[in-house]
Amino acid sequence: MNSEQNKPQVLESIIRARKTDKITCEVEDRRPVPDERQQHGNAIVLHSLEVAGWAPFHYPSNDKNIHEPWRAYVLWDEEVSNLLRELTNEHRFKQSKLQKLTAACSALVLVTWIPEQRTEIREENRNIINEENLAAAAAMVQNFLLMLTAHGMRNYWSSGGDLGKPDVFELLGIPKQERLIAAVFIDYDDMKDLQPYKTCAPGKHRDKRTTNWIQQSSIHSKSP
Ligand SMILES: Cc1cc2nc3c(=O)[nH]c(=O)nc-3n(C[C@H](O)[C@H](O)[C@H](O)COP(=O)(O)O)c2cc1C
Repeated sequence: MNSEQNKPQVLESIIRARKTDKITCEVEDRRPVPDERQQHGNAIVLHSLEVAGWAPFHYPSNDKNIHEPWRAYVLWDEEVSNLLRELTNEHRFKQSKLQKLTAACSALVLVTWIPEQRTEIREENRNIINEENLAAAAAMVQNFLLMLTAHGMRNYWSSGGDLGKPDVFELLGIPKQERLIAAVFIDYDDMKDLQPYKTCAPGKHRDKRTTNWIQQSSIHSKSP
């Protein structure tokens, strides 16, 4: 089989291999990512984001220089540790699960989508644009997860909980009009070799999949 014929199989295997891996550890167990692993891992994450940006989008954002209706905010090892310190010290952040996920991750990418700001646009049209911007951002996130999976990096798409709050946005310099669609927790350990101080849990719905949602459409014509 030549490489052209093999493409669907390769793509299918990556799509099927993508899975939620919720990796956590105790806050006090967080360890820095070794330099060499960081360099290698960070380059993969950046490249994966660039590729993910080939997702389709219908409406450009209002920023003339960045047309895509999504943004990705990347936190490397040191920034993750700084964020963790804030999440742990500040009483307003209550989600211990979020802290444990942050403590265990090697890198964290917050993906936002950009709601339509122009007030002269009718609400009905604004809602359509917003739905499509959200959909486009979701396509970009899925591309990103697939690239990480292809590189053998465990990942988890979380809604983000407290990470979507205005004070975290302010802390990270994310414009307040943006909306968090995904907090992608990434682990640089080898897929086969998870550090023993970390634990890994699957997504709740992983094994509930069917193909029953694929329905044959029929036309119920009203004309005689
Ligand atoms: C938009 C979105 C948000 C999600 N947020 C969460 C979350 O906050 N907490 C969680 O446990 N799982 C979250 N998930 C992951 C799902 O639980 C997971 O995809 C599902 O259980 C199926 O498992 P799989 O990804 O391994 O196929 C989210 C998934 C999506 C698409």
